[in-house]
This record gives sequence, structure tokens and C-alpha cells, in this order.
Amino acid sequence: MNGLSVSDLTVVRGSGAGPPAIGPISLSAEPGKAVGIVGETGAGKTLTLRALMGLLPAGFQLGGSVHLGNDEHVYRTEEELRRQLGRAIGVVLQNPFTAFDPLKSVGSQIVEGVVRRRLTSRSAARARAVELLEQMGFTHADDVMRLFPSQLSGGMAQRIAIAMALMPHPAVLLADEPTSALDATLRLGVLELICRFTAATGAVLVIISHDLRLIGRFCDTIVVMYGGRVVEAGPAKELLEHPRHPYTRALIACTPTIGARGKQPLASIPGSPPSLFQSEHRCRFAPRCPLVEDACWLEEPPLVPLSGVRVACPVVSREAVHR
Ligand SMILES: Nc1ncnc2c1ncn2[C@@H]1O[C@H](COP(=O)(O)OP(=O)(O)O)[C@@H](O)[C@H]1O
Ligand SMILES: [Mg+2]
Repeated sequence: MNGLSVSDLTVVRGSGAGPPAIGPISLSAEPGKAVGIVGETGAGKTLTLRALMGLLPAGFQLGGSVHLGNDEHVYRTEEELRRQLGRAIGVVLQNPFTAFDPLKSVGSQIVEGVVRRRLTSRSAARARAVELLEQMGFTHADDVMRLFPSQLSGGMAQRIAIAMALMPHPAVLLADEPTSALDATLRLGVLELICRFTAATGAVLVIISHDLRLIGRFCDTIVVMYGGRVVEAGPAKELLEHPRHPYTRALIACTPTIGARGKQPLASIPGSPPSLFQSEHRCRFAPRCPLVEDACWLEEPPLVPLSGVRVACPVVSREAVHR
């Protein structure tokens, strides 16, 4: 398959006894499509992305497999995935300054990655860098190439970091809250740029956010994570208009302008998010769930298809059948 296909990705800590911290996660996206991963802080979104980059923290292990682009190879180890960083996998992080060496000019840094990996000549890389910077909204790209990281504003740095990630024509662009460090006024514009470019180049965008409203506008598919598990996944429109899982519903109710009707006060979800490292096999949302039943404490509900989406809630699935 072209695009991205992730099969049963898991992240386990230590010896791996008990349930995995993250997953299993399976998702696929065709070239040019955008997948949004949403969930509260601590849901395991960043760990999931780090698993896809092959850069898990020490003590964590990767399981499952990843298929990238039109490559026949299936990537199963961190080492294999890591080798694709700056090639088939592009990365944009929350703080754009982490992408830069403070002592080198913007231009040399944008060009360096692809030249060092022998993906292109220096002159071709320079030309592409200028072109990408122009497309990122810089009218004087040559001047920008001469700047040093300390001379950049957050918005400039993030747009440059995106250009840098796109230099090698990645099959997948992984973006971890790429606009949360930016002013609200810049967020939409930068998100639009990322999406426009991945769509135009055929790269799959996997973008993390805790803001369902924002992500819903740009993504084709949404994956809702809770406590390291996918609780609901499906086409963005369907999922936003007809959320099934009680957590997705609560998340939407908490999100201004999607859930708010008139001047109702903002809702919040009572209780606190779970640790990823619990040994019990049960639904991780059970302690906060309005629909909880005895069976929810006995096993982890699998993700099952339900009218166009996938939902990990037997109560919702059963009620849908009886309706
Ligand atoms: N480097 C690490 N070492 C140990 N535990 C970690 C590390 N990174 C994340 N975790 C654990 O995983 C949990 C989820 O983290 P993270 O993936 O960053 O969530 P999110 O991005 O959804 O906010 C954290 O609350 C923490 O317990
Ligand atoms: Mg995070």
C-alpha cells in the first residue's frame, strides 16, 4: 500500500509484563491524507509519535510494524524506523527551536540534512530550500537563509522547521503539537501550511493535538486516545458529528464551539486521566465513565467497527445494535 500503514503498534515498559502502556494501535492513511491524534495531556500521544520515529525513551520497547510510502519494506524495529528520520519520515516538534543548532545559519541547517544523507546535491538543496521557504510565506527567502536561530520569532522558527522537515520529500510527516507554542493568531495559518504541503506532496500527515476543534478542521481521520488506548477512530466529520465513545463525547462537550450551545458553561470531565502503567486489564475510562457496567472492570474492550468508525466500548456497541 502507498501512504502509511501502522499495524498493532505497542509500547511496553520494562519487562513487558501486563498490558502495554500504549496500543495496540492500527491505522492507515493514503498519500496526502491527514490523521489527527487527540487526547488529554498524558494520553500517550507523544510516546506514540516517538514510537513511529524509532526514538522511544530508555526502558520502553516497540512492538508491531509500520509500512511507509510505496516501499515494500515493513519497519519493525526502532533502529529501522530511526534510519528513515530525515528520509521517509519528517518530524516537526512542539518547540521549533529544538530542531536548530544555535550556531549555524538557517540556510546551512535546512540544506545540511539532505546533503549529508546524499539525497541531493548542495545546489539542488539550496534551490529547494528557497522554494519551500517562499511557500511557507517568506518573501525574502534568501535573507531568511542567512539568519541565525536566535534571530527568529516562534512563528518564523516553526515555519522554517516545517520547511526543513519537508526537504527530503518524506512519505510521512509526524507533527507533535506543532502550533501549541505559537500565538493563537498564527496557529491556523501554520496548520494550513502544513496540511496544504503534505496534501500537495502526497505525504501522510500524522498530527497530534489536545485541541479537537482545531484538528477536526484539518484532518481526514481522527484517532482519539485515552490512557494509551485508541478509544475511537474514524473519518473526522463522522466522529465529530456523531461521537460514540463516552470519552469522545465528553471531549467534544469540553471543546468550545463544537459542544457549546449558547452560553452554557464549559463542561469538564470529572476525575483525572489514568497512568499508562497500570497492570489491570480493564477499560481505562471506566472510573470516569457515565455508562460504566460491571463488565467494564473485567477486560479491556477491543476496538470494533460501528457504523463507519471504530469504537472501544461494548456498552455503546450493544446499544447501537438495539436501537
Ligand atoms: N521519557 C519518559 N520516561 C518515562 N515515562 C515517560 C516518558 N515520557 C512519557 N512518559 C510517561 O508516559 C505518559 C504519557 O506521556 P506522553 O506520551 O508525553 O503523553 P501526551 O503527549 O499525550 O501528553 C507520561 O505521563 C509519563 O508517565
Ligand atoms: Mg505530548
